[in-house]
Amino acid sequence: MKEFKDKVAVITGAGSGIGLAIARRCVQEGMKVVLADVEQDALTGAEKELTALGGTVLQVLTDVSSADQVEALARKTVDTFGGVHLLCNNAGVAADGTIWECSLADWDWVIGVNLWGVLNGIRTFVPIILSQDTEGHVVNTASTAGILPYHPGASYHVTKHAVVALSENLYRSLGERGAKIKTSVLCPGFVKTRILSSLRNRPAELRLKSSPKPLSPEAEEAAWAYLENNHFRVLSPAQVADMVFTAIREERFYILTHPEFNEVVRKRMEAIIQGQNPEIKPLSFKREQTQTHQ
Ligand SMILES: NC(=O)c1ccc[n+]([C@@H]2O[C@H](COP(=O)([O-])OP(=O)(O)OC[C@H]3O[C@@H](n4cnc5c(N)ncnc54)[C@H](O)[C@@H]3O)[C@@H](O)[C@H]2O)c1
Repeated sequence: MKEFKDKVAVITGAGSGIGLAIARRCVQEGMKVVLADVEQDALTGAEKELTALGGTVLQVLTDVSSADQVEALARKTVDTFGGVHLLCNNAGVAADGTIWECSLADWDWVIGVNLWGVLNGIRTFVPIILSQDTEGHVVNTASTAGILPYHPGASYHVTKHAVVALSENLYRSLGERGAKIKTSVLCPGFVKTRILSSLRNRPAELRLKSSPKPLSPEAEEAAWAYLENNHFRVLSPAQVADMVFTAIREERFYILTHPEFNEVVRKRMEAIIQGQNPEIKPLSFKREQTQTHQ
């Protein structure tokens, strides 16, 4: 897709961070924008801001882990704007913990948002775009966690690998059919958003007494400052939104925001084809380095 004016974008997780930055960029491009998020206050704030910028905006409170709610989102989109051209399956949450220490509620929550959310978006919207027979683009937000050999949040690691796989599958199956819909998978490194306090949106029924509390705003700030002070490259959501739009224009599938992670990815792939076991050493992606610490 090279022309965006008057086209329709649906963005999940649009109330904050990367989703909100993509929504701002859509408005700048003259698109009509549907903001979907589970957090009502964030949605209302985003709608206000984008309308003040001159945007044509619809907000729809949506839990992406619910197929019914994503179908309702699609109906409202088509009823209001007549169709859809850009779908950003971006909503995501992060939780820490090993595979066996995470509770089933932890797994349900993270798989629900990170994997079912993207699946629900594709299953609902791709047939609509196909039936329009127009150009279209689907951007799935995974993470560098989706291409790296390890992430301390097991459920995050597993679901983000799944998002990369299902994006590759979508790219291929649309391509085989000669569809006009293109696909990209966004794999960000560190981006200064509210991801560190995603527990704020954990549904009560998937919360346990033992569940950790969301970080305070001060603790969030301190965590980002720690990363920056320790030479990790932290991007702004706006920088990532620019990369997304460049990739859509260029029909580029992989959107990797942090080249300093590439060496670790290359080593993972080499280890796989050479039959070597995974390393049990800290991964390092500091900005002055191009090599992994061995
Ligand atoms: N920030 C980073 O460093 C980083 C790195 C890699 C990947 N990502 C990915 O980027 C995406 C966007 O996250 P972000 O960093 O902007 O974080 P964020 O917390 O600022 O924004 C995420 C948004 O998703 C919404 N959301 C949560 N659960 C939802 C649900 N069930 N249904 C609908 N919306 C829901 C939240 O309310 C929030 O507005 C996520 O998929 C995340 O995994 C972020």
